[in-house]
Amino acid sequence: MKKKALIFGITGQDGAYLARFLIKKKYTVHGVIRRSSSLNTGRIDDIYQGPDIKKRNLILHFGDSIDTSSVFKIISKTLPDEIYNLSAQSHVAVSFEVPEYTSNVDALGTLRILEAIKSLKNKKKIKFYQAGTSEMFGGSSKEVQNEKTMFDPKSPYAASKVYAHSITKIYRDAYKIFASNGILFNHESPLRGETFVTKKIIKALTLIKLGKQKTLYLGNIYAKRDWGHAKDYVEAMWKILNHKVPDDFVISTNKQITVKKFIEIASKKLDMKLKWKGKGINEKAYDSRGKLIIKIIPRYFRPLEVDNLKGNFSKAKRLLNWKPKTTIVQLIDEMIAFELKNNG
Ligand code: NAP
Ligand code: GDD
Repeated sequence: MKKKALIFGITGQDGAYLARFLIKKKYTVHGVIRRSSSLNTGRIDDIYQGPDIKKRNLILHFGDSIDTSSVFKIISKTLPDEIYNLSAQSHVAVSFEVPEYTSNVDALGTLRILEAIKSLKNKKKIKFYQAGTSEMFGGSSKEVQNEKTMFDPKSPYAASKVYAHSITKIYRDAYKIFASNGILFNHESPLRGETFVTKKIIKALTLIKLGKQKTLYLGNIYAKRDWGHAKDYVEAMWKILNHKVPDDFVISTNKQITVKKFIEIASKKLDMKLKWKGKGINEKAYDSRGKLIIKIIPRYFRPLEVDNLKGNFSKAKRLLNWKPKTTIVQLIDEMIAFELKNNG
């Protein structure tokens, strides 16, 4: 019998990589999509297999994590072996603008799925994965964070994810549901959302190189992040659910660089020689002909910043035999190649 997975958030970066990964593993994949006035299935269009449901291993359902009835209906109708909850308002800065909506999707959305699982007779057969985040560590004073590091969320997004992490553990302990948390550090890819900093930098620098954009506007370029590749991280999600017992795992590279260093690697790859001048809000980067390329503006600073994220993934290595495969330089190369192909 083919295994069945249900992905909330299938249209996002991770959803698209996870769906491909599971289809390769011969799963039938069900995904929840939201009705939207503009198309939101661009990342999965190429794996959609046409209208004949009997021939398909990807089946999409309209629903929403804030709509309890659709969550219950889709889960009881599909009765999957594995549920991956990737659905979220996932932008940290935006969560300060829409804190209530963010909490409804990211925190209560998780509770709704767990309640739906709990209501089923065969609840112990369904495995549940919750997409947790290094943002939960937020202001931690620890140089390197692991599963034992105390959470210190610094945004409505991170606070909602701490709730989701806790409620997942509570349902695991109270109702013996196979419910696991991934605590994933930043991961990127050519399919990354356009307003996250890596995609924004790579796309803008490529367009500037091609003469199609003039300036890139950024906020805090001194934040340090531990950046991996989404493709490697969705494999970890699957390994977490296929571990013998439900548990919580940090997934990371254990390496970090600043946003500024990321810019420097990417600009070198594009053969652009950047020269930095000024400090703080007045810092700017110019090209070799003295043209302004990067400007720092207050708009992209957050009410609170997370300065330092670096994850220790040794538990995942030991128990899941997982480790990251892609280096930051390979990731940047792949993202640049994608932008050149699409914009060149
Ligand atoms: P993403 O690209 O922003 O995708 C988010 C997905 O959630 C999209 O499919 C989106 O649908 C869906 N969604 C948003 N609101 C929803 C709602 N109300 N009901 C149902 N679906 C909804 O995020 P990602 O980078 O793939 O990340 C996947 C998950 O991992 C998220 O939960 C994120 O918080 C978490 N995470 C990400 C990272 C990272 O570095 N990427 C690190 C740690 C944790 P639409 O396409 O319709 O908007
Ligand atoms: N987005 C963005 N845009 N970030 C900027 C900018 C800008 O113009 N300028 C500087 N930054 C800085 C942010 O302040 C932050 O310190 C860093 O770049 C990374 O920002 P994002 O790419 O937006 O990612 P994030 O770290 O805030 O959150 C991502 O990773 C989390 C895991 O740690 C998201 O994917 C979250 O959903 C995820 O949980």
